[in-house]
Amino acid sequence: MSTSGAAARAAWVTVALCALALVLAGCGGEQSALEPRSEPARRIETLWWVMFWIAFAVFVGTVGLLGLAWWRRHRDGLPLAGKYGFDPEGPESKEEKLTTGLVVAFGIVIPATILIGTFVYSNVFVIEETDAPDPSTTSLAIEVRGNQWWWEIRYPNTPNAITANELHIPARTRVNLLGESDDVIHSFWVPQLNRKIDLFPGKPNRVLLYADQPGAYRGQCAEFCGDQHARMALRVYAHEPAEFQRYLRAISRPRPVPDTPAEILGERVFLANQCAGCHTVRGTRARGEIGPDLTHLQMRETLAALTIPNTKGHLAGWVLDPQRVKPGAKMPALGLSGPEFQALLAYLESLR
Ligand code: CUA
Repeated sequence: MSTSGAAARAAWVTVALCALALVLAGCGGEQSALEPRSEPARRIETLWWVMFWIAFAVFVGTVGLLGLAWWRRHRDGLPLAGKYGFDPEGPESKEEKLTTGLVVAFGIVIPATILIGTFVYSNVFVIEETDAPDPSTTSLAIEVRGNQWWWEIRYPNTPNAITANELHIPARTRVNLLGESDDVIHSFWVPQLNRKIDLFPGKPNRVLLYADQPGAYRGQCAEFCGDQHARMALRVYAHEPAEFQRYLRAISRPRPVPDTPAEILGERVFLANQCAGCHTVRGTRARGEIGPDLTHLQMRETLAALTIPNTKGHLAGWVLDPQRVKPGAKMPALGLSGPEFQALLAYLESLR
């Protein structure tokens, strides 16, 4: 073999291995439907594998038959109509019967069996488990509202428990999740826990949220909803029940009152600027509902729907120039002076 031939083969092997590595890398992690952490998600995973192996068998069969046809390309295969003088009533050869049988089997019987089988299977075994739960079988209700491009989260039975993008639930507890949208259609999807549901404006939708064990499960908006659809993520945190109750008490308590001079000035800056028109900080005049409730901003690990971590540096960059972090986001830059900006940051950092 020539050197260039060997080099070309090596290049192909490298490309194939890289592609395989990329594909496999996409199969794991905290947002994978193939790592289910609840019974509904396990049913979906099973259906996925059933469909995968059926598709695999069909693919291998089709390629095999194509290969066979190519291998036998110089032989007479199909019965030649001319052989029988174009007489449709003429005697059928053995070969003709075989051909008709193959067409009926591969063109009608097998596809119909597969389609009807998977339809019945998913309607009986998957839908019964993943369907919206009977509210009387759940022990907690949570409301999620989709917004361009973030999630508002409320606990309707706990006054003032409002947050964004980070959804806390007790593990091993059936949660009745009620979803709606404030603008366009979004889709709430946490692949490790259950199927996706669309969130519509003015038409509530529901899904069961359940996690077998404590942990963090990433979710993603699954319906194209504008510029930053891809940066509309969320994370579900499942806790032991006692820890969840602590969380609920913490998120619903009154705001931390500004303490230092910088925090006091920062709150004044917050209230005097556009911040207060879009965000709420409970206990102040800030009552905006366009952006997330910031009363306990520092209880969240991320900003801008999981786009960046909630650290002082990232928070500063986000407030200074939101369009750079998330182009199209509805948050404007404020153009504050240096001292005002620093005070505002100190205030936002104090919202624990
Ligand atoms: Cu919201 Cu895509």
